Amino acid sequence: MMEKDYFVSRYSTERRGTVSLKWDLLEERYGDADLIPMWVADMEFKTCEAITEALTEKIEHGIFGYAYIPQSYYDAFFDWMENRHGMPMEKEWVRLATGVVGALYWFVNCYTKPGDAVIIMTPVYYPFHNAVKDCKRKLVTCDLVNNNGYFTVDYDAFERQIVDNDVKMFILCSPHNPVGRVWKEEELDRMLDICKRHGVLVISDEIHQDFVFGDSRHIPAPMVSGGKYRDNLVLVNAASKTFNLAALVHSNIVICDPKLRVQYDEFANMYNRTDFNILGITATEAGYRGGADWLEGLLAVIEDNYNYVKRELCGKLPGVTMTPLEGTYLPMLDMRSCIEPEELKGFIQDKCRLAVDYGEWFGDNFKGFIRLNLATDPKYVKMAVDAILREYAKR
Ligand SMILES: Cc1ncc(COP(=O)(O)O)c(C=O)c1O
Repeated sequence: MMEKDYFVSRYSTERRGTVSLKWDLLEERYGDADLIPMWVADMEFKTCEAITEALTEKIEHGIFGYAYIPQSYYDAFFDWMENRHGMPMEKEWVRLATGVVGALYWFVNCYTKPGDAVIIMTPVYYPFHNAVKDCKRKLVTCDLVNNNGYFTVDYDAFERQIVDNDVKMFILCSPHNPVGRVWKEEELDRMLDICKRHGVLVISDEIHQDFVFGDSRHIPAPMVSGGKYRDNLVLVNAASKTFNLAALVHSNIVICDPKLRVQYDEFANMYNRTDFNILGITATEAGYRGGADWLEGLLAVIEDNYNYVKRELCGKLPGVTMTPLEGTYLPMLDMRSCIEPEELKGFIQDKCRLAVDYGEWFGDNFKGFIRLNLATDPKYVKMAVDAILREYAKR
């Protein structure tokens, strides 16, 4: 396994001035360019050599004409899904998309009608909210239950919201950003069972599938309970989080059920003709084929960063809790015991000089929480923790 200090020294790199949303758009997003960015979910690490070499070869060839999806792409993707996630794949299930968020918008438009209700479990990645609202559907939320930082599903409330609002679609986040849960099979089974009983189609966003720690095990939605819910779900995943490839805008759609596939294809034929970017295909295939060792190094760095925050920050600030590191690299911290929710932004941004995601971006009832991106060089994590402790002590 790649050693974490070696990983950092080899792959950590400067991103300022590189057309980076995270580093170069701070002024637009936060009104202040001079902050340490711990927000948007990409990383300060160069991707693995397997990917840069494959891209370099493609670029040096200098041909970017029309292409097709080679069998080798499917082979690499299918091996990854089977070996890492225990999911045997079939080629006819697969469609491609230019990004997971884009695909969510397609699914909302494809499988629901304007005015239909779509449910999400809050707090959740804010484009889920936008996909529903922008497509003029009715947004229905169900708050997860916060057990001292460990979030779980309130199944009765979930079912009630579905019935009361005549919900047609559920967008599931698995693993869940930002509460860091890797849902257990029983949990997924209960959610999917409720949806199936009430005719609610499930869209499972599994972009964080490869960020799983400790004893947690990611179970792709089509594998839950022996595949029982396959006729009622659509899966979308990508290598873009895993290997830091977001701007190559490439993701995978998996639709096991023939009827759902026909519906999707008819929609795609009318609206998006699912094209793909050859660099996205090349990078994804190369990562799945040769990136496992790099990923192990990255996971070790994230885990170390997490333990550092837990020890140095949560251990020293009374009552601050952090969501568990089951999955993702984006834990959420509940700061309410130390800082009044109304004062949190002033404290974090103006005093500590940090750009983070705020809890209320993910759900109305989560003001007072922040989300930290820990897929970064430990030096930034240390700077952030030091700043919070220093400024808290001055209060
Ligand atoms: C749950 C989730 N889905 C989708 C995305 C983004 O996907 P894409 O860049 O492919 O649109 C993110 C990025 O943070 C995410 O956390």
